[in-house]
Amino acid sequence: MSLHRAILTILYISALMFAGAVLVQAFGYYQLALEQRPHSSLHTTMKPGGSWGHGLGILGSAMMLLLFLYSARKRRFCGLRFGKTRHWLNIHIFFGIMGPVFVNLHTSFKIGGIVAVSYYSMMAVMLSGFIGRCLYVKIPRALSGDELTMREMQEKKRSLNQLLVEKYGLDVDFIAEIGTLPGLERGERLCGIAAIFALLKNDLTRVFQMRGVRRRLRCELSALPRQEAGKLLQIIKQQSLLVRKMTFLSTVQPLLHYWHVAHKPFAYVMIIIMFVHIAVVLMFGHQWVF
Ligand code: HEM
Repeated sequence: MSLHRAILTILYISALMFAGAVLVQAFGYYQLALEQRPHSSLHTTMKPGGSWGHGLGILGSAMMLLLFLYSARKRRFCGLRFGKTRHWLNIHIFFGIMGPVFVNLHTSFKIGGIVAVSYYSMMAVMLSGFIGRCLYVKIPRALSGDELTMREMQEKKRSLNQLLVEKYGLDVDFIAEIGTLPGLERGERLCGIAAIFALLKNDLTRVFQMRGVRRRLRCELSALPRQEAGKLLQIIKQQSLLVRKMTFLSTVQPLLHYWHVAHKPFAYVMIIIMFVHIAVVLMFGHQWVF
């Protein structure tokens, strides 16, 4: 496991355990009707302005701000070049998931007033993030996370093919078969809605195609040591994914562009209203708990 993955796993486990512990502790309180809450012993701590509720709000808001570090790294803001963009995106996703979790706990599941606009924008951006992530991974990228040019893609495809032929002795027909996409005639190009449906169908059927490839490899290359067979399968998977990404690139690129157009304004509305909310709360005399 890489250091990045290990750190991310530790972050997710600790944040989820902490959020889970708060939820278990205050579950009874969150279930109470608004008028019953002041009678609960947890009210002073778990209400949005309570010692814990307030702290959870600060934690969630800090995470919502920290997720913008990805934009700064992507644009090399102030010369920021540290780390790979794809690693920063994973950090963005961590803050983008856990931030709203803590903000939800802060609200004590009671939402109203102008800040509701920020809350629903946050939930919309978070949920749409999952669609963005699906589109993002369909664009061929280098290990750094930067997009590959068409020339780099062709080059990568050629070197993977070469490896399959020269190192593993696979025949050209088999390689061509790996490159076929379920539901598409070889070399067929689709556009518009038809391409989106073909992409979805492909997503759903790819796992069966790979299972077929694995079965065939087991029969034809039974003499290959287990470890080598594993490596070969990884190369085949890479090659098949690359062909798929190249085929659907002209569909996915505009979709990702339109997704950006919808995703970003919600994010900015959320942040602006979040600051207005913080200013109003401080003006009304609430103190920072930390
Ligand atoms: C409320 C939480 C979130 C906010 C406010 C937010 C905000 C943003 C913003 C402003 C961008 C544009 C970055 C840029 O191009 O500079 C972005 C990109 C992106 N976000 Fe989020 N996001 C959130 C949650 C998520 C989640 C939960 C996911 C995934 C599960 C996600 C996945 C992505 C992806 C894939 C991109 C596109 C990266 C790219 O094209 O470079 N986001 N997000």
